[in-house]
Order: sequence, then C-alpha cells, then structure tokens
Amino acid sequence: MQIEDLDDYILSHIDPEGESLARLDRDTHLFHLRPRMCSGHLQGRLLKMLVRMIAPKRILELGTFTGYSALCLAEGLPEDGELHTIEIDDELEDFIRTHLSQSPVGNRVHLHIGDAREVLKRLDPDHRFDLVFIDANKRQYSEYYDLVFDRVSPGGFIIADNTLWDGKVVEPGKKIDAQTQGILDFNDKIASDTRVEKVILPLRDGLTIIYKKP
Ligand SMILES: C[S@@+](CC[C@H](N)C(=O)[O-])C[C@H]1O[C@@H](n2cnc3c(N)ncnc32)[C@H](O)[C@@H]1O
Repeated sequence: MQIEDLDDYILSHIDPEGESLARLDRDTHLFHLRPRMCSGHLQGRLLKMLVRMIAPKRILELGTFTGYSALCLAEGLPEDGELHTIEIDDELEDFIRTHLSQSPVGNRVHLHIGDAREVLKRLDPDHRFDLVFIDANKRQYSEYYDLVFDRVSPGGFIIADNTLWDGKVVEPGKKIDAQTQGILDFNDKIASDTRVEKVILPLRDGLTIIYKKP
C-alpha cells in the first residue's frame, strides 16, 4: 500500500474543497514560494468541520499566508460569524484580498497585516475568541499562546498547527534548530498546563487541539 494511494482515496471520499479554494490552492502553488505552508484539501475540510462542531461566533487566526485556512474556517461560521486573521508579510496582502473577494465567505474574514504580537494589542479589547488557530512563526508559538490565552472564551479552543514539525520533535541526537526548539517548548508548555485539556492529532504535520476549561 502506498501512502499516496491512501491520500487519494481519502480525498475522493471527503467533501471537495470547492471552486474558489481549488483556485486559491492552484495560485498559491503557481505564485508563491513554500506552497506547502497552505493547509490544503484534507486539513481544510477538517478545520471547517471543527468549526461546525465548536460553533464559534468569533475566530482568530495567526498566520494567514495566502488565506486558505482562513477561508476554510470561515466556511464553517454562521452568517454573522467573523474571523480575524493576521499576516506579517505585507507582500501577500493583494493576493489574499483578491482571493477573499472571490470567495462566497470572504466577507466574514477580517485581514490584519502586521506582526501578530503587535496587532493583537490593537484588536478590540472586549473581543473574546471562541477559537484561535495558531499557524505563524514556530519560534513564537509559546508567546502567541500567552498573548491570546486570556482572550479565549472559557470553554473555547486553541488549535495549533505543525506541532509534530515533520517528526523533528522526536529526533534525538540531532542539532535542534530554533523552529524545532520553539515547537518543543510549546508542546511541553501545553502538556503541563492544567488550565487546558489537549490532544495531538498526527494529521499532516501535527495538529494540537486545546480546550480551555471554563
Ligand atoms: C504556515 S503559514 C500559514 C498557513 C495558513 N494558515 C494556511 O494554513 O493556509 C505561516 C504564515 O505566518 C506568517 N507569520 C510569521 N510570523 C508571523 C507573525 N509574527 N505575525 C503574523 N504572521 C506571521 C508567515 O509570513 C506565513 O505566511
């Protein structure tokens, strides 16, 4: 059995990603370096399903890249739901806004350009988020967690992407680079945080789901 065969089988037995996301995925691969950063079909459908299950009214995303995960999360929101997404790379802004405008759920997405750690301070202090998706700089995951924690509603969720970091979290003896160290520190921090319940899904590059106890 080939892993690729299984991937194809899964993708042909789950919901399609839809026209605007397929176009966004194609354009991401055509016009951007490191297109693998894009969540893609399977993880995108999972994010939408998680939003359906959690039923958040307001979502925060750190790390927009080309907007694929933002639109998947937004698809699961109700009409009056909103998603705030923060991207540090201002060269991506036009591309993201073009694709938001072409999506039927793009009006639910509020894009902020800047360093998430700074932008967070400028967001309405009364806003509470029922779901936060952390997917920006791996070196800064613990910092993001501390910054957003008080703004997550009691009973809300934080989802962190890439928490298995291509398996580098379990490569003993290898020199640890700064990004891997960031993920290792984050995973240890979450494991010992008694304010939350957590589980790591070995999907794609690892997805940690964190529940903030009420
Ligand atoms: C893995 S990509 C995000 C992928 C996207 N969430 C998706 O699934 O399609 C990470 C993004 O985070 C951005 N980023 C890195 N550091 C950041 C920061 N401090 N604040 C905001 N965005 C940041 C990068 O420029 C990059 O576009």
